[in-house]
Amino acid sequence: MLSTTLQEALNKQVKHEAASSQSYLAMASWCDIQPGLQGVTEFFYQQSEEERQHMLKLVKYINERGGMAIVPALEQPIITFPSLKKLFEEFLKNETGVSESINDIVHLALQEKDYATHNFLQWYVAEQIEEERLARTLNEKLEMIGEDRSGLYLFDRDILAYRTSISKGDGGHRH
Ligand code: FEO
Repeated sequence: MLSTTLQEALNKQVKHEAASSQSYLAMASWCDIQPGLQGVTEFFYQQSEEERQHMLKLVKYINERGGMAIVPALEQPIITFPSLKKLFEEFLKNETGVSESINDIVHLALQEKDYATHNFLQWYVAEQIEEERLARTLNEKLEMIGEDRSGLYLFDRDILAYRTSISKGDGGHRH
């Protein structure tokens, strides 16, 4: 059975994941109406879907452990961006925030000696390492590309492949 404190923390995380899903949906939708960003658009549609799965996993876990998952109300995410670079900075900022909040719950689970929740959260810890690395790599690439349109063309063409290579653990390489 989950303690009230952990249940609240996990429900807060449900909201965080749901809000991430909405933010990435908004990013996908903004990219969708910019010229030539089909790859980035698809990347964020997929990213939004992934965050929904992260939320769902938490909802099911809370209920399974005798708690009650709360489907949250959400604020409207940012829906327009001054540039693609700014959008990717938001992406990284959000992922860093998610990692911090996962770490806080891991800490809480240990304090409460809830090893089942601690164990459950390890999946999120590993996932966040990947997500942060991905977001950082993409930001670094955009930094390098600057205003170079052919660089941007390649970035958009290859972005889905970057994700695959990073989740396989080769780090999307920093060379
Ligand atoms: Fe589920 Fe990318 O945080």
